[in-house]
Amino acid sequence: MSAPNEPGLSDHHLPEVALVGRSNVGKSSLLGMLLGAPSLVRTSRTPGRTQLLNLFHYGDKLAFMDLPGYGYAKLSHQERDRMARITHGYMVNRVPLKGVLLLLDARREEVSEADREMAAFMLKHDRPVLLVATKADLVPKNRRLAQQRRLEKSFGVPAGWSVMCSSKTKEGEGELWRRIHELVS
Ligand code: GTP
Ligand code: MG
Repeated sequence: MSAPNEPGLSDHHLPEVALVGRSNVGKSSLLGMLLGAPSLVRTSRTPGRTQLLNLFHYGDKLAFMDLPGYGYAKLSHQERDRMARITHGYMVNRVPLKGVLLLLDARREEVSEADREMAAFMLKHDRPVLLVATKADLVPKNRRLAQQRRLEKSFGVPAGWSVMCSSKTKEGEGELWRRIHELVS
């Protein structure tokens, strides 16, 4: 189901996991991989595609929330404020929310200020966070581990705290599922 904001969402009794991250980082693609149904979740080459709260039930076990991305420069200030309000309202008020996947592009050298602010916001509201480095297929194999450690260091979290994945090759899918189960249990 889709809703324009948190009060518009229906309640359920499943643990809910949300995906957050900068626009175009690969949230919808990763969710399509996890659901085993890439075509179910709308992805786009154009940043700013996901503008509603999109909730997906995964059998009778879990629910996933695909959130709008942040940091897309081409949106108007008004539009960006509106999306930030929607995301913040969801994070603060959503009762079934058990954990958050914070997605980072595996190719990035540094974690952006917007990502740090988002992580701080979630921790402030007691939402457990798992870091997921996306698009691993775009980092040469022999540099992936070093790049993962670099992102962890830049974020200030211990080595092994993040998971590296590719929605394209499904690399890391098993590990990501294990960590999601840990996150919600
Ligand atoms: P917004 O909804 O705009 O915030 O974007 P999003 O974070 O949902 O990103 P989306 O999943 O729509 O993907 C953005 C672009 O990155 C698309 O062109 C995808 O095909 C591409 N992409 C996503 N995941 C991967 C990946 O693992 N590998 C590669 N090579 N490309 C990817
Ligand atoms: Mg999206």
